[in-house]
Amino acid sequence: MSNPPPVKPVTVPDFRAARTQNRRLAVVTAYDFTAAKIADEAGVDAILVGDSLGMVVQGHATSLPVSLAEIAYHTRCVARAVKRCLIVADLPFGSYQESPRQAVRSAVKLLKAGAHAVKLEGGERVLPAVAAVVAADIPVMGHIGLTPQSVHRMGGFKVQRDADALLADARVVEAAGAFSMVVEGVPTDLGTRVTQAVGVPTIGIGAGPGCDGQVLVWHDLLGLFDGFRPKFVKRYAELGAAAREAIASYCTEVRSGQFPAAEHGFK
Ligand code: KIV
Repeated sequence: MSNPPPVKPVTVPDFRAARTQNRRLAVVTAYDFTAAKIADEAGVDAILVGDSLGMVVQGHATSLPVSLAEIAYHTRCVARAVKRCLIVADLPFGSYQESPRQAVRSAVKLLKAGAHAVKLEGGERVLPAVAAVVAADIPVMGHIGLTPQSVHRMGGFKVQRDADALLADARVVEAAGAFSMVVEGVPTDLGTRVTQAVGVPTIGIGAGPGCDGQVLVWHDLLGLFDGFRPKFVKRYAELGAAAREAIASYCTEVRSGQFPAAEHGFK
């Protein structure tokens, strides 16, 4: 019997090269060992340990309360499962805004936790932070457009339509050395224009089909989160409903004495 072929990991240069190779990139968030193992085995190019965990795991209304220690914890859980795909961890709110030094210190913590790259939100405002993290030899994924950490400045999670500002942000993030960028919550034509304006892969979420790849939140993709349903989400399964049904059957069987049955006991 021959051994299975060795797993070829997705590296940052591989991810970046997808653009020139006309290969579209599939990214999903994951926050724990089991989810990361499933996503990695399913063949995603990258897992994002996103600060969206503040909403879908912790139950907050925004990502703002998420701490660096919490992202590091979830990154460690994910890193134990992943054999192949790239792991990108979010720098949460408050972990890079003070200074480029703070950004580097925070990014180092996430790489020590097992991330291969970090993501941070913003364009021109965060140029020094992106440049400093890149100079520290840590790959950076940018994030422009609807940046959830700016929810209060934006007055809510609103589609961003200022084309000049978006294109300027995209160019700055690329010039600062980012190897790719998330483009979130912009009209489809703007998602396409940003993609044409830069030379690194754009990963869209609510930015239309013109981006080089897509990212979705685990709980949205699998139908596990009903807090709100953005228009850009496609639910590929209804695991929330399936889980509710399964647990209701379990409750019924425990209460009726049907479970555990003889075969579930030890002799
Ligand atoms: O935190 C997150 O999950 C994200 C994605 C939605 C892009 O930033």
